[in-house]
Amino acid sequence: ESMTKVIKNGTVVTADRTYQADVLIDGGKIVAIGAQLDGDEVIDATGCYVMPGGIDPHTHLEMPFMGTYSADDFESGTRAALSGGTTMVVDFCLPSPGQSLLEAITMWDNKSTRACCDYSFHMAITWWGEQVFNEMPEVVARGIPSFKHFMAYKGALMVDDDEMFSSFQRCAELGALPMVHAENGDVVAQLSAKLLAEGNNGPEGHAYSRPPEVEGEATNRAIMIADMAGVPLYVVHTSCEQSHEAIRRARQKGMRVFGEPLIQHLVLDESEYFDKDWDHAARRVMSPPFRNKQHQDSLWAGLSSGSLQCVATDHCAFTSDQKRTGVGDFTKIPNGTGGLEDRLPVLWTFGVNTGRLTMNEFVAATSTNIAKILNMYPQKGAILEGSDADIIVWDPERSKTISAKTQQSVIDYNVFEGIEVKGLPRHVFTRGEAAVVDGTVQATPGHGQFVSREPNMAVNKALSTWKQVVAPRKVERTGIPATGV
Ligand code: URP
Ligand code: ZN
Ligand code: ZN
Ligand code: ZN
Repeated sequence: ESMTKVIKNGTVVTADRTYQADVLIDGGKIVAIGAQLDGDEVIDATGCYVMPGGIDPHTHLEMPFMGTYSADDFESGTRAALSGGTTMVVDFCLPSPGQSLLEAITMWDNKSTRACCDYSFHMAITWWGEQVFNEMPEVVARGIPSFKHFMAYKGALMVDDDEMFSSFQRCAELGALPMVHAENGDVVAQLSAKLLAEGNNGPEGHAYSRPPEVEGEATNRAIMIADMAGVPLYVVHTSCEQSHEAIRRARQKGMRVFGEPLIQHLVLDESEYFDKDWDHAARRVMSPPFRNKQHQDSLWAGLSSGSLQCVATDHCAFTSDQKRTGVGDFTKIPNGTGGLEDRLPVLWTFGVNTGRLTMNEFVAATSTNIAKILNMYPQKGAILEGSDADIIVWDPERSKTISAKTQQSVIDYNVFEGIEVKGLPRHVFTRGEAAVVDGTVQATPGHGQFVSREPNMAVNKALSTWKQVVAPRKVERTGIPATGV
């Protein structure tokens, strides 16, 4: 007989509802929700909200990138996640160009053995060829039905439109979800070269080389290509109005296009790059770069109105030393920022506490929408009987000042340093196991399991507007004029 746990006296908050109930956990699953439940161990949630654990749909743990490896691995990364109420991460399996996709999965399987919470993978399409085409069905069969395409990082990970269209069509056949890092890599490369030639080699050059138009153009292009391939599309790290506008327009036309703002873009702005010391600015170099207040307002509006669905971190943490590789040439600063531990408290503080988001919208954007889009609902993203017991007991009165000194991430700074958050987990459960107890992290390396996902044929077979309007039709004609007249 396993020990049951019961979370008592809390208010359950899901994407749909807010109500009083106790939650009973047995064997890693939620087995009952209701009044007056009994269990072997009682967890008191008085004054707290009981919510589905956060799911981060976008992380890069121990990833080889720009000549180095991102500093947080599956152990420190998932410990950071749990500490802040995130109970699952979806990490990008990244084959080097030319490498077998299946070989890359083996690498990621080996890296993830010490994960403290559950995880899943997306596959990155970093090159194109017969081998990639042939391996894609096996990738899907291994529980990875989502493929990311980099439209930037020219000369490294970037795929061109020909490759992207081919891959999107393959995704359509397989019921898989294509994803894009939407930035016009050709324009970025040219602007970067120009800035460097003019002597603008500091970290602010990174922001100048990637204006919002670069992202808006690529987002729109990817949407149109997805439409022609007849697949939905997931746009990662949507950072600006131009990209949001393209997503909004596509959705209004009936297309299944999803947008994912990052917590960093919602809260931090471009002033982080200007009139700051080199380290400060370089630590915030990521793609796309931070934007201005107007873009932030657009992203917040997208989350409350539903034109943007998920909040992620794109956690790809580099130490100050790693960032310093780019002294004298901003194009060599490893791109990426952290945020795994801070996503939920920061979104709660700047979203729920300000009235921009309801608590239910908060749960939807950090967990439920992600589980649904990535086809793992209601195993994940739900407080329902039979769901995994990935649960946060959230204390809206608990507060702290974010600091690198107290964080779980192994890097030596935090982009949210000094921000005061109000709303933190009191307890966190990962498949029923306590990972945070009264605010103290006690995560177990190796507890995390791989979550296999099925392709979502139901969504992917519903073809786009273009396919429905223009069905291919061969026109038979007589009286064809002779050639060479
Ligand atoms: O700058 C970023 N976003 N680094 C991580 C890799 C990616 O592009 O998502
Ligand atoms: Zn990206
Ligand atoms: Zn990323
Ligand atoms: Zn365990």
